[in-house]
Amino acid sequence: MKALVLKEKNQHPGLEEVANPKAGQSEVLVRMKAAALNHRDVYIMQGLYPNVRYPLIPGSDGAGIAADDREVIFQPGIHWGDDERMQSRDYHILGLPTNGTFSEYIVVGEGQIFDKPTHLTFEEATALPLAGLTAFRVLFSRCKSQSGEKVLITGAGGGVALFCCQFAFAAGLEVFVTSGSETKIASALKLGVLGAANYKSQDWPEKLKSQASGFDVIIDSAGGDGFADLIRLCNPGGRIGIYGGSNGTVSNFSPQPIFWKQISILGSTMGSDQDFADMLAFVNHHKIVPVVDSVFSLEEGAKAFERMEKGEQFGKIVLRISQ
Ligand SMILES: NC(=O)c1ccc[n+]([C@@H]2O[C@H](COP(=O)([O-])OP(=O)(O)OC[C@H]3O[C@@H](n4cnc5c(N)ncnc54)[C@H](OP(=O)(O)O)[C@@H]3O)[C@@H](O)[C@H]2O)c1
Repeated sequence: MKALVLKEKNQHPGLEEVANPKAGQSEVLVRMKAAALNHRDVYIMQGLYPNVRYPLIPGSDGAGIAADDREVIFQPGIHWGDDERMQSRDYHILGLPTNGTFSEYIVVGEGQIFDKPTHLTFEEATALPLAGLTAFRVLFSRCKSQSGEKVLITGAGGGVALFCCQFAFAAGLEVFVTSGSETKIASALKLGVLGAANYKSQDWPEKLKSQASGFDVIIDSAGGDGFADLIRLCNPGGRIGIYGGSNGTVSNFSPQPIFWKQISILGSTMGSDQDFADMLAFVNHHKIVPVVDSVFSLEEGAKAFERMEKGEQFGKIVLRISQ
């Protein structure tokens, strides 16, 4: 079969002929129709995760047809365990250390297989698993976001961030965003966000303050020194959910506003099988359609990686594997 293979650190994946995988006991062979990129795939290419090994077929998101003709997507998290509060020590994510979804066939555990939402095409459905799961858990399971609350979502152009926006709209929250791109801000406003500020401008916190006064929930994947501004923008009794740290450490951190305003800071990673099932039920109920930024063929995999590296996307970058 054909697969996109990472062979060396900092080198884009190339299309290779590799052996077809074989399903073992309690496993299912899936003929892939589409896959999607996450920032994780770029970090793996850059060797930024512990225990990265090459050659590797990356990819955590996939949609396809199982051996019994079911149209399926997969829960990308493996071995969450029994504790809803956190993943087990055996937990790992499809696409490292095991081969991922950027291939014509894949073998996954029976427990990872879920029915593809019928209102979505394969290319839309494949956009959902990793980013949708992360968004659902941070927004609802961790931050307990409620209808009528004001939520600020940072970096609106990102895959997870856009699902946070779409899920928050569906749940009746008032949604505000930051982005580093005026074009992406215009797209987010078109989608339905009530206000926005460009995090590259000096006065972005003041702009948001004048638009919303403060936020009950803030969902962040950037970290860095801008995090102190998020604490200032958080309402008393508010929650800040963190699922990423793209901008690195926070050096200007002051604990006073956190304890005085009774703010909860909640870390969140991926989600349990229950979170995945709840997320799918939510998407089916609200007929949510993921925002797909662009679709590349498997042969154009390197171009898809480049687009994500440059941060040009608004929504998910998808790989079409078969028609
Ligand atoms: N914990 C988990 O389970 C989990 C799961 C998925 C992702 N993540 C992490 O979350 C981050 C985003 O992942 P993704 O796959 O959604 O990536 P992505 O689609 O490439 O999005 C990255 C986004 O980060 C935003 N960004 C960059 N600099 C920023 C800044 N200074 N302030 C605010 N936002 C900024 C950008 O927003 P604009 O384009 O709008 O400027 C960009 O769209 C990555 O660090 C990833 O590792 C964690």
